[in-house]
Amino acid sequence: MAKSSQYQSKSSDQNGVIHWTNEENAIWSALYERQLPLVEARACKEYMDGLALLDLSKDKVPQLPDIDKVLLAQTGWKTAEVPALISFGEFFQLLANKEFPVATFIRRQQDFDYLQEPDIFHEVFGHCPLLTNPAFAHFTHVYGKLGLNASPEDRVYLARLYWFTVEFGLVKVAGETKIYGGGILSSPGETKYALDSKEAQREPLEPLNALRTPYRIDIMQPLYYILPEFNYLYELAEMDIMALVKEAKSLGLFDPLFPPKIKQAV
Ligand SMILES: [Fe+2]
Repeated sequence: MAKSSQYQSKSSDQNGVIHWTNEENAIWSALYERQLPLVEARACKEYMDGLALLDLSKDKVPQLPDIDKVLLAQTGWKTAEVPALISFGEFFQLLANKEFPVATFIRRQQDFDYLQEPDIFHEVFGHCPLLTNPAFAHFTHVYGKLGLNASPEDRVYLARLYWFTVEFGLVKVAGETKIYGGGILSSPGETKYALDSKEAQREPLEPLNALRTPYRIDIMQPLYYILPEFNYLYELAEMDIMALVKEAKSLGLFDPLFPPKIKQAV
């Protein structure tokens, strides 16, 4: 979640329909067209299966009630239309209710290649396909309930686990590494980088390590964690994650693998 945004979400009408402009629909269409061949070659099967089920419109921004019909039938999830920025508390409350927050704005042309804030392309194209998958849906629900009851300090640790799984996770499939993280799958640069980069490190996911790994939201990730298989998300959901948070707090964070952000002189 970004701390500030230059964007404002659009509101739906009484039928849940958002009236996107021609320019906004054209941005969606161009993003979709660019990203589809990349994910077809690199995303895990569970994501591609979800994308097929959602059958997202290619020429205009999809409407959330259409996505909800599929999600509700598959896993009991739905989307929630939210402002560009929501608090940790609102975020965890929604996940605990099996509602996935979708900020209802789309990037402008000048931000076509990169936008720090999660827009509707990131939320819908990046995350919604996997919300049709029972293992992913279950883990995300359990995670939301944990976060809802966690202290502000513990939520910062939980955010790292989310980052290295739901946002930037990789998964082993028949000896091959595939992508399931929505932060990667909605970014053309990172969809290639995450699998191909010689500089990036890739390690098996150890939840305790993920909780202890600092990250930056505004760079290509220097480290990705790999699930041994997709259904490992069920095992992860059964772990005593809050006990691992406690252990992570006592052990402390790993040294960052990235340079500190340079503060601009005022
Ligand atoms: Fe996200």
